[in-house]
Amino acid sequence: MYSEIKKQMPSILEAAGEIVCSASHITDCITAKAGDANFVTEYDVNVQNFLKEKLTALCPGALFFAEEQENDPLTDAPTFLIDPIDGTTNFIRGLGQSCISVGFYVNKKPVLGYIYQPYARELFYAYAGEGAYLAKNGKTTRLSRADVPLSGSLSAFGTDPYRKSTTGAETMRVAGELLARSLDIRRTGSAALDLINVAAGRCDLLYENLLSPWDFGAGRLIVEEAGGVVMRPDGKPLPMDRPSPILAGAPSACAEFLSEIGYRLND
Ligand code: IPD
Ligand code: CA
Repeated sequence: MYSEIKKQMPSILEAAGEIVCSASHITDCITAKAGDANFVTEYDVNVQNFLKEKLTALCPGALFFAEEQENDPLTDAPTFLIDPIDGTTNFIRGLGQSCISVGFYVNKKPVLGYIYQPYARELFYAYAGEGAYLAKNGKTTRLSRADVPLSGSLSAFGTDPYRKSTTGAETMRVAGELLARSLDIRRTGSAALDLINVAAGRCDLLYENLLSPWDFGAGRLIVEEAGGVVMRPDGKPLPMDRPSPILAGAPSACAEFLSEIGYRLND
């Protein structure tokens, strides 16, 4: 099923990655969006337009739910969830820690997930029911992440930066708990990268107060197909049709998070 998308996606993402890696004068094309310190560049829009054009040719009639556009509510129709540059602030600052995230959903369920880190030329992908993989340097490896307790976890968290004036204190409470209860904490500045790090066993847990479906659309499938779990931090299922708080990681570490750290915000 969807064999043409599977065949073409690696080269489409590689070409989109070239737009990211060859970007110049980024600081001349930044626009502020709603919220605290939330930015978009012309490159975000260019990558999104490029992906939409290629994916429309591959899958005529498919819908798009994408970060840099106005979106209708997610429906059961085949839909691509796109974050053209996840880690936009990292991209603006030249940190080399950003990625392109494309999830493909049918009936609001994940079917395919792709996250491409263009600086490291790493392509992570998953097919529902068929596993998660990392393709790099011509070699493809199936991902199978270990279960670990919270005490043995390297824990990532996101800062919910665009609402930090209201949720920052809760973020830092959770970060403090994770620092105390796990090996150490990390903040990459890209939730999609955090999710592939969880899938690959580079990190063991991710928490963030709020992410959008385009941030986690691809990554949730990659984590789940690699043997991790993804949910809301109160243990409820992650919704795909609206922004949501997120907890992802090794099953044991996430279970301990739920019982010992918990989620204290209303959303
Ligand atoms: C953001 C990044 C960041 C996370 C934010 C996201 P963007 O996405 O994933 O790590 O903390 O919540 O919105 O804006 O760079 O695409
Ligand atoms: Ca983005």
